[in-house]
Amino acid sequence: MPSLVVVGTYWGDEGKGKITDFLADKADIVVRYQGGNNAGHTIQNKNKTYKLHFIPSGILHPNTMCVLGNGMVIDPVELVSEMEQLSDAGVETDNLRVSDRAHLILPYHKLLDGLSEERRGPNKIGTTRKGIGPAYMDKAARCGLRIVDLLNPKELEQRLSENIRDKNMLLQRYYDVPGLDEKAVLASLLEAADKLRPFIDDTSALINDALDQGKYIVFEGAQATLLDIDHGTYPFVTASNPVAGGVCIGAGVGPTKIDKVMGLVKAYTSRVGDGPFPTEIFDETADIIRERGKEFGTTTGRPRRVGWLDGVILRYARRVSGLDALCITLLDVLSGMEEIKICTHYELDGQRTDRFPASVSSLGRCNPVYETLPGWDQDISDCKNWEDLPANAQAYIHFIEELAGAPVAIVSVGPGREQTINVREI
Ligand code: GDP
Ligand code: IMO
Ligand code: MG
Repeated sequence: MPSLVVVGTYWGDEGKGKITDFLADKADIVVRYQGGNNAGHTIQNKNKTYKLHFIPSGILHPNTMCVLGNGMVIDPVELVSEMEQLSDAGVETDNLRVSDRAHLILPYHKLLDGLSEERRGPNKIGTTRKGIGPAYMDKAARCGLRIVDLLNPKELEQRLSENIRDKNMLLQRYYDVPGLDEKAVLASLLEAADKLRPFIDDTSALINDALDQGKYIVFEGAQATLLDIDHGTYPFVTASNPVAGGVCIGAGVGPTKIDKVMGLVKAYTSRVGDGPFPTEIFDETADIIRERGKEFGTTTGRPRRVGWLDGVILRYARRVSGLDALCITLLDVLSGMEEIKICTHYELDGQRTDRFPASVSSLGRCNPVYETLPGWDQDISDCKNWEDLPANAQAYIHFIEELAGAPVAIVSVGPGREQTINVREI
């Protein structure tokens, strides 16, 4: 029953796509269990770059099945377009399966996402405007449409009509913008439904059968711990549960079926979108990191905010997801830095604290307390083994292990699949 969860420890973009693609070599199935196309997972293979949004990062492996789980929200038109783009790039998508229970992102969700951000003004969340929040709102309000509804055009038409009537009222009367044309929305849905039909399945049954047969499953998180709607920096979060527990709900597997959880830790921290960020840096070091790490959003192209690694967050992520091991990514980006800072704890209103606070106003008042470690000069992007890493890079990794209270299993030294060092088995 081997299964592994890959989960981001910070605010996303820790390299989940790259590492999932690396692990997928051995995986029978890769499963996305939450989120939608707010995710931007980049995979680089043989100098080709693939940017995935809905599709799990196992897709470059022809023998690996890729599942979009029930916990996801899916824009069927955009999913079809992503499949076609991959197909045009020579990547087969026959091995894709889409949960019949996943909820749909519909055009009104995208409109409402943008409009509600504009209405919030300076208090905006900084969402990706992909309609994620509004789609999950409808799921909770019990008026969402699901993938299974695409298979029943009559029912789809009736439920869509009821929803568009309500949403148009909101769009026209509250936001003062034109409503949507029901016929056009239905037509585009039916066209996408025809293309998706062969891929729709009861994916919880499929995953559990595979687990019973001893197959190896990787659950690929999107977003990350601090964007989790329960455990993140609310309200500056996404609308789903990226933490490891989200796998049970979002893939339809019991907690007893999860073997191991690996936390992805960028060698520094990044955040795209608004909200407090204690270790954020603004000086020229930030510009160097942003340029070297190509820290610009995959989905939105926005420059990402960057900062030093934060041990308080690491320990918090270990707790809420039960991390067994860590994977350090983008370590190569720190090469050439004279000194590297790492936050060991915070000071909040003059008191030392090791706890990650619940309120964003408290988090905004947390001052990071740093330990400074010496950097290394060597380019490490060709290192293949632990022994190849400079002593100071090894010391940095050991410091992270101590701080987090979890061992490092993998170190990533570049975006390519081969730029990955296996430190120990997970
Ligand atoms: P995800 O959302 O967690 O999958 O991460 P993204 O793909 O959005 O962002 C990570 C970026 O870093 C991508 O452009 C990757 O190609 C790149 N990347 C991943 N691992 C490494 C690494 O170890 N070194 C470098 N330089 N780039 C990496
Ligand atoms: P991956 O999977 C980084 C952020 C948005 C915003 C907040 C809410 O690539 O790590 P949403 O559109 O989800 O309602 O936006 O969450 N956000 C991400 N930031 N990486 C992501 O995904 C993100 N997905 C959402 O910037 O702050
Ligand atoms: Mg990303």
